[in-house]
This record gives sequence, C-alpha cells and structure tokens, in this order.
Amino acid sequence: MQTHEIARRFSQYFADHGHTRVPSASLILDDPTLLFVNAGMVQFKPYFLGQAPPPYPRATSIQKCVRTGDIDEVGRTTRHNTFFQMAGNFSFGDYFKAGAIEHAWNLVTGSQDAGGYGFDPDRIWVTVYDDDDEAIGLWRKIAGLPTERIQRRGGEDNYWDMGVPGPGGPCSEIYFDRGPQHGRDGGPEADEDRYLEIWNLVFMQDERGELSPKKGYPPVGTLPKKNIDTGMGVERVAYLLQGVDNVYETDLVRPVIARAEEFSGRRYGSSPEDDVRFRVIADHARSGVMIIGDGVTPSNEGRGYVLRRLLRRIVRSSRLLGVHEPVLPAFAEVVRDAMAPSYPELATDFERISAVVRAEEEAFLSTLTAGSKIFDTAVAATKESGGTQLAGDKAFQLHDTYGFPIDLTLEMASEAGLTVDEQGFRSLMEEQRSRAKADAAARKTGHLGVQAYRTVLDNAGTSDFLGYDELVADAAIVGLIVDGVGVPAVGQGTAVEVVLDRTPFYAEGGGQQADMGVIVGADFTITVSDVQAPVPGLIVHRGVVTAGEARIDVQVHAEVDTERRAAVSRAHSATHLVHAGMRRALGDAAAQAGSLNAPGRLRFDFTSPAGAVPPSVLADVEDEVNAVLIADHDVRAFVTSQEEARKLGALALFGEKYGDEVRIIEIGEYSRELCGGTHVLRSGQLGLVKLLGEASIGSGVRRVEALVGLDAFRYLAKEHVLVSQLAEQFKAKPEELPERINGIVERLRQAERELEKVRADAVLSSAGALAEGAEDVDGVALVAVAAPDGVGGNDLRALASDVRGRLGARPGVVALFSADGEKVSFVVATTSAARDRGLAAGKLVPAFAPAVSGRGGGKPDLAQGGGTNPAGVAEAVAALRAALRAA
Ligand code: ALA
Repeated sequence: MQTHEIARRFSQYFADHGHTRVPSASLILDDPTLLFVNAGMVQFKPYFLGQAPPPYPRATSIQKCVRTGDIDEVGRTTRHNTFFQMAGNFSFGDYFKAGAIEHAWNLVTGSQDAGGYGFDPDRIWVTVYDDDDEAIGLWRKIAGLPTERIQRRGGEDNYWDMGVPGPGGPCSEIYFDRGPQHGRDGGPEADEDRYLEIWNLVFMQDERGELSPKKGYPPVGTLPKKNIDTGMGVERVAYLLQGVDNVYETDLVRPVIARAEEFSGRRYGSSPEDDVRFRVIADHARSGVMIIGDGVTPSNEGRGYVLRRLLRRIVRSSRLLGVHEPVLPAFAEVVRDAMAPSYPELATDFERISAVVRAEEEAFLSTLTAGSKIFDTAVAATKESGGTQLAGDKAFQLHDTYGFPIDLTLEMASEAGLTVDEQGFRSLMEEQRSRAKADAAARKTGHLGVQAYRTVLDNAGTSDFLGYDELVADAAIVGLIVDGVGVPAVGQGTAVEVVLDRTPFYAEGGGQQADMGVIVGADFTITVSDVQAPVPGLIVHRGVVTAGEARIDVQVHAEVDTERRAAVSRAHSATHLVHAGMRRALGDAAAQAGSLNAPGRLRFDFTSPAGAVPPSVLADVEDEVNAVLIADHDVRAFVTSQEEARKLGALALFGEKYGDEVRIIEIGEYSRELCGGTHVLRSGQLGLVKLLGEASIGSGVRRVEALVGLDAFRYLAKEHVLVSQLAEQFKAKPEELPERINGIVERLRQAERELEKVRADAVLSSAGALAEGAEDVDGVALVAVAAPDGVGGNDLRALASDVRGRLGARPGVVALFSADGEKVSFVVATTSAARDRGLAAGKLVPAFAPAVSGRGGGKPDLAQGGGTNPAGVAEAVAALRAALRAA
C-alpha cells in the first residue's frame, strides 16, 4: 500500500467517524518551545490546555514532523526518520480511552477491503502505563487481546509529554510483531526492532510542570477535560505494508537511494557502510526539502543550522560514496516528485528550494576545498612533530570557519592515520555555545553576526537607500563581514557581507525579493546575490568576491541588475492591482496575508472567510486588472502622515507596523496602498497580468499566483499551442474540445463497466468448477489452485468466498493464488466446519507463504497476503496440503 494511500485511509476513517480534517501545520509553527513541529498535537496545544475553545470536538490531521535528536541513528536502524508524517486523531473532551482504543484497533486490523490496514490481529502487541488497569481491561474487551500480549511499562516509555511544561498523559502504544527472524521473543519490552511501534495513544489528562512524570515526578495539575492525542507513524506503517526492510526503502524515500546509486555507480545492498550512507542521503534529502519548503534557509543558528547540518551530511555521504559533483538539486527533484502529491507547494516553490540547496552545496564544496588544504597542512605538521593526534583547536577551526562537521574531520583524520583530540574540540564548542547564548538578540533574529552589524551601525550610521530613483551609485564600503566577524579585507572566492554608506540595492522586504548586481572597486568585484536588513537601518549586501581583494573604506560603484529589478517591480505593482481587484470583488474581508514579488511572477495570499474564490470572480478580477494596464495610469509614490493616509483610504497591510510618516503607492485612482517597495512608472509597463488560479493554504487563507509581462505572454502562447495540438488530435474546434473529451470519457466508462460485468460473470462461473474439483485431504475439502487468468485483487476474494459457499457444510479450505509479473497474491478462506476443526485461515498462511517468498495474515475465516515468487505456487499448494494433514 502506497504511503499516500495509508495517509488517505487514516483521514478518511476518522472523517467518517466525525472528526474534522485539519491540514498539517507548518514545520515552523510559532511555538517558542520547539525548533520544529514534532508531533501532531502541537497545533492543538491551546485546546488541550483550555486556553482557547476548540472549534471542533474531534479532529484528525496528517502532520509534517521533524525530529533530529536521533540524527546519528538515521540509516543504522530500520525506523529512524528525521522527517516523518504523523497521522493523528484528537478528542478535545469528547471520547476518551475506550474510543481511542476502539478506533485504532478497527483501523489497524480492519480488512483492507473495508478501508483498513489489514494487520494480522494475532501479531499485534500493546503496552500500557504501569498501573493503567483500565486500559488493559479495554484492550481485552474491545480488541480481545490476550493478557500475554499486553505489557506494562514505566513512565520513560509510556508517559508522553512535549518535553517541556504543558499537556501530558499516560499512553498506550501499539506494536506489530515483525517475526522471530527480526529479534528476540518477549514483546516490545524485549526488542523494539522486532516489535515495531506503529501508533501511540496518549490519554491527555495532566498538566506537567518543570519536571516530567516520565521521570516519576507528579503532574502539577489536571487538564480541564480528558482528551485524546494519538500519533501513528505513517512511514512505519508503510514499511510494514510494503514488505520492505526499513523506512528508507518505502515508496516515497527509496527513489532518492536510486538516484544516489546512479550518481555513485555503487549498488545499494552491497556494503553495509555504503548502505548507511545511501539511507542517510535519502532521509536527509527529504527532511531538507520539506524544511526549506516551509521557509527555512541554511544558517549558523537554530533551525537554519539544523538544515545546514542535514544538507552537509548529504554532500559528505555522497563524497564517501565517491561522488564529487553537485548532488543536492538532483536529490531535491526526486523528493519533490515523491512528496508533491501531498504537498503541492513543493512543486510550485521548487525554483526557490532548488536555488537554496544549490547555493548551500556550492558554499560547502568551496569551503570543503579550502578546509581540506588547512587539514592537509595540519596533518603534515602533526606528523612532522611525531604526533598521532590532530589538535582540538584545528578540528574546531575546521568546524567553525569551514563548516566541517566533526565526524568529517574524524573520518578524514583516520584515513590519514591520526586520531583527533575530541575532548579539546568539544570544550571549544562549549565555549562558543555559551558565547552564542549570551547574545540573546542574535539568537532571536537568527543572525549570529548581529554584533558585527551593530558595530558597523555604531561606526558608520544607517545606510542611505537611493534605489527608488537610482539603480547605479558611487559609494564607500563602510563594513565587511565574514562569518559574523568584521574584517578589513576579503580575498577572492570568499563569501562576504558588505555594507555601503549609500546604496541603490533594495533589501528583501514587504514581500519583494532582494536586488542582485555587482559592487565594483578599482581592482576588485563583488557579485551580490542577496540583500537583507538584519538590523533596522542597515542594508547588508551578501555575495562573493569574484575578483581581486575587497577592502574597507574604499570607493566603489554599485550597480543593480536592472532587468531583474524591472521584472520584480512589475510583479510588485501587479500585486497591488490584484489586491485592489480582489477587494472590489470580495469586499474588505479579502485582506492581504502575505505576498511574494519575484521576477515576472507574484504570489498573493489573502483571507477569504467565504472559502474558495469562484473561477468566474477570478476571471472578472483578471479582466479588470488588465483594463487598468491598458488605461496606462501614472504610478505615483509619495510620503505623507499616517493620518492623511488613512483619510485617503490607503490599504495598510494586516499586522504591519508603520511609523508616523508612511509611503503611499498610488496607481491612478484604482489602487492606493502603503508600501516601501519599488514599482513601475506607468501601469502600461506591466504589459499583461495572467492569474494562474487560486488555492487554499490553510485556515481561511487563499493564495493566487500570477504571471506578469513577457512571462504571462509566454505562458498563454504555450497554452495556445497545446490547445491547437489537442484540437488537431481530437479533430475538433478548440471550443468543441470539452464536449468531445466528455463524450470519449463517457464511452470509456461505459466500456469499463461492461468489461467489469463480463469479468465478474466469468469469475463466478468458474466458482462451480473449482468447488467440484475439491480434493479430499483427511476429510477436509481443499481447493488450492492458481486462479483463472485475469482474476486478481477484489475478484480473488469474491471468488474464494463463492467457492467456499459452494463447499457448504463440509470442512473446507479454499486457497487461490494469482500471479502478476513478479508478484503473486493469495487469499485463504475456511468454511465454518473447518474452523470448528481449528483450521484458521490466518494461521494457515505461514505454512505455505514462504514457498512464494511471501507473507500475509487475517482473520480465521479469511486471510490474504502476497509474495514475490510466482514460480512457487505449486510448492505452496503442496505445503498447504501437508499442513492440513498435520493438523
Ligand atoms: N503526541 C504523541 C506522540 O508524539 C502522540 O507520540
């Protein structure tokens, strides 16, 4: 079963049982206690604590989660993912233990036909919190679980809280026994690799204080209501249902391994060390892309650092696989293709995601080269002086200046026959960490070098922004910063942050992307790829010295890339027009909630309490906006008082703060908006605006995307070609296409229905013959054969039930096999007289499944499974016969 299907079934099951489907929260939900969202309950925390009334009594979600605490385990165990999807059902004071247990049990063991996961109930184990006799009773009563498969465990395992003060409660975990070949007998208590946890049910009832009940401390209070919070590991269920060996080989992760095999020319599965590297790459590539997808960029602090670490571990693992070319953009593509069906923003945002990983990889590869030189010199010096250990400060320098993870240094040192003074390294790291902690402001903004910016600001004052009117300017360099430290000069090839006394470069802000361009000195050039204002008043140009050596206090010529700027400005003006158009169409409730103005395209997010915007309204807005372009209005920028702006009815953006003086952008009489961005001079310069449709991005917020200018024209031209091609293919005029295609689809459906009926008839008509051919095995009527051609899936089960019905009151066992290429599936059904003799379908499966290299399970009356060796069907039939004889 595909991962997407597993998630779909979960949502469907709980939606069918009165739960409101809630979309996944962003990984970087604003909770100061967490770096990343790491459980489904995070977005519901206020409801558990009684801080806000829950808008629904029951909810269900598939939450994106990141946990990097066990990053070193990744690839070494079967089950550690840094990114995973947690499927959860939540009750806010509604049902409690009994409901949670009943739902989980039904979904886990419910037949796949009926929308469940079809796990063999006989292989399910559960754990409960120490003295939770109530849970034990419920598991026995609701699921019929024998006491031997219910284990009591202490707080460490069976009490759940967020790791910080907040909601918590005892929990009960559901495990699946993968079989004796995977470890010791004795349940989860004995072996958590053989017994794999798939679902955790938390009976959320306590409020924990500073000290956790996990460690035996009493909770500080009781929650206002008894709640349920559960988390099912979608990837874990996928790995079990897909019959693979670990979470890295599931359908959504494994493709990255395949790509890494192509790059390296090495095969997954041929060396244990390489396999760990392959799995690290696959896991980290997915987490990296998902984290960037939610807006994080690599940096040296907080989330950005976690991301950097993940990406660099991929590059490093690739190197260890013998790959020296850039890999991240290619891996990111594979992740996008796997994940976009659930997270479409990965596809629409892919350009950005790809640019982020490409830049990070380039930066790392260049520091890797520079750092390797430092490393070689240090190794030579150590050996010359007769030493066998690389000094801790060298390892620290490599880490701090060149971004070498310590394990890279360890690995390289051991290749050179040296050890590393890890103790020394760690104490230097510790010192640095306390320094960073002291700089609380730095932590808050995520800019490690905030102190360096302050120093520049103190010495040189704020930067003058000239870029509303000028795109080139002469200026002086007043600050150069490398890795958060002010420096007097910067050599070729180094990434640098440059502060000028005055600049035409626009710093990213108000949804408008930063300018790019060059800063040219008498004998050096800096290529600028990003511009930010990390502290108010200071404009910081980020780039690389591409020629010569840049020095502080010298004169330079700053030049903005004019084409890019013009394209971004067109997008920004277009955003104002779309905003105004939406307000006119939908009323003032359509408030801006965010925007992006990039070259040639824009994204505009707005609140829409009424839900989706009908296509006809979008078409009207588009029409009106284009009419404004043709009217070729003046675009006027002026500064005025806040009060005056309000009188003029200017739109101010939701949630933003303005000073007393505000800048207004006015496009004819059509739009008037507070804005610090750059714009075109006349609306006609936009050429054309094409809305690409709208979609929900969660809780009442909608997003429209649009193309502007030539990008819009090219898009339409391409669609025109496409429609012409279709018209030719279907021999119809373009306007007749919908009808023509509808007709074809309808005919196809009809044909499929007829085919289905013919097939069903054929299957049923074969049932009589099969039942008649039953052989007698010690008094049991056995029908064990390959199913007639073309019978698979649902038909196979229907046929088995039908044959069983025809065996009547006799003890009878029906086993049907159907091969499809490399795969074989099977169904076993028993008559009730057979069951009276102790012949349970689920129990018969292990007797013959190995012959087809397969496995499966089910209930006493009906079991099913599959294997990978169709050639073994005859052997399986013989094994089943033998099993009946032995019974
Ligand atoms: N919040 C619970 C967990 O993360 C379900 O395991």
